[in-house]
Amino acid sequence: MLVRAALEADLPAILAIHNANIATSTAIWDYEQVGIEERTAWFHDRAAARKPILVAEIDGAVAGYASYGQWRPKIGYRYSVENSVYVDERFHRRGVASALLRALIERARADGDVHAIIAAIETSNTASIALHERFGFTVVGQLPEVGQKFGRWLDLTLMQLTIPVDIR
Ligand SMILES: CC(C)(COP(=O)(O)OP(=O)(O)OC[C@H]1O[C@@H](n2cnc3c(N)ncnc32)[C@H](O)[C@@H]1OP(=O)(O)O)[C@@H](O)C(=O)NCCC(=O)NCCS
Repeated sequence: MLVRAALEADLPAILAIHNANIATSTAIWDYEQVGIEERTAWFHDRAAARKPILVAEIDGAVAGYASYGQWRPKIGYRYSVENSVYVDERFHRRGVASALLRALIERARADGDVHAIIAAIETSNTASIALHERFGFTVVGQLPEVGQKFGRWLDLTLMQLTIPVDIR
């Protein structure tokens, strides 16, 4: 497995994973499929903000991707990011998300401009909660019934990993 920075050429594969999660999961709280232009705009926004998008490649195929962006837009939140990690179903449980999350945290530590990494996880997503726990994230908040999809209310679990960064 190779973990590397995403290229624009990876966007069709990223789009397929993203849309599969919209269609079948409560990991992404959208209802409608998105087009390549939406992911392209996201790719350029992250690049302009100097925020990473990483992909994991297995035998030349994109098996998953991970990224983070500023958690909330106001300047006071500039050292807080929200992360995301998605793995193609065909590659689940092979350590892909772990490799991506490890690399993402290393990148945050190396850049020195990330103090809090926040994962906002639908509460029944025990796989993602277990994954983040393994990397030192702890549950810092529970927001009941703040979403709705597939005809039911969704709860949100907030997990956080804090990285030491001097106040500037
Ligand atoms: C959550 C997700 C990213 C995990 O990806 P993965 O590559 O299968 O994860 P890994 O193989 O690296 O697993 C790492 C650990 O996470 C936990 N985990 C992963 N999948 C799990 C599952 N289905 N059930 C319980 N724990 C699970 C386990 O602790 C696992 O370690 P183990 O295999 O040694 O027991 C993947 O299931 C996914 O893409 N789900 C849909 C999108 C999503 O929920 N993204 C997160 C949004 S917050």
